[in-house]
Amino acid sequence: MSSGHPNCCPALRVVMMPRDTNPNGTIFGGVLLSYIDQAGAIEARKHAPRRVVTVAIDRVEFKQPVHVGDVLSFFTTLVKRGRTSLTVHVEVEAERFVPPRETVPVTTATLVFVSVDEEGRPLPVPP
Ligand SMILES: CC(C)(COP(=O)(O)OP(=O)(O)OC[C@H]1O[C@@H](n2cnc3c(N)ncnc32)[C@H](O)[C@@H]1OP(=O)(O)O)[C@@H](O)C(=O)NCCC(=O)NCCS
Repeated sequence: MSSGHPNCCPALRVVMMPRDTNPNGTIFGGVLLSYIDQAGAIEARKHAPRRVVTVAIDRVEFKQPVHVGDVLSFFTTLVKRGRTSLTVHVEVEAERFVPPRETVPVTTATLVFVSVDEEGRPLPVPP
């Protein structure tokens, strides 16, 4: 299952702000990771009976820099359903604020979430 792609129904959309920059003036990778984690959790939560926690961020690829004013869309796809784990692929696109107003793929990541109960113990996901 997917949040939809291309251009439709991302799990999350957000505008990059000046507070999100690194010393080079582009967007700090840690900020992107935080949003990637949120977007992945939004997808994983749809498939879990209660809550999910992030157990692994397996691979993140920063393909292009992100700039202040860019509108980021986070597209999510559930790629694997384990007994208690859910693996989600996240693709991030940036709609550039300055001309040319293009939309470019900037980052991809694969994350593993675990379905847990109220005490944080692994809880099976429905098949
Ligand atoms: C997630 C957590 C509950 C798993 O506990 P655990 O005792 O390792 O549980 P299990 O060994 O039964 O593993 C549960 C599932 O996670 C998977 N898993 C565990 N560690 C993993 C890793 N490093 N990478 C990928 N999958 C992993 C297991 O394969 C298993 O999947 P399955 O049930 O689909 O086969 C525990 O590690 C935890 O609480 N971690 C902290 C999570 C957290 O706070 N995240 C927020 C970021 S700080």
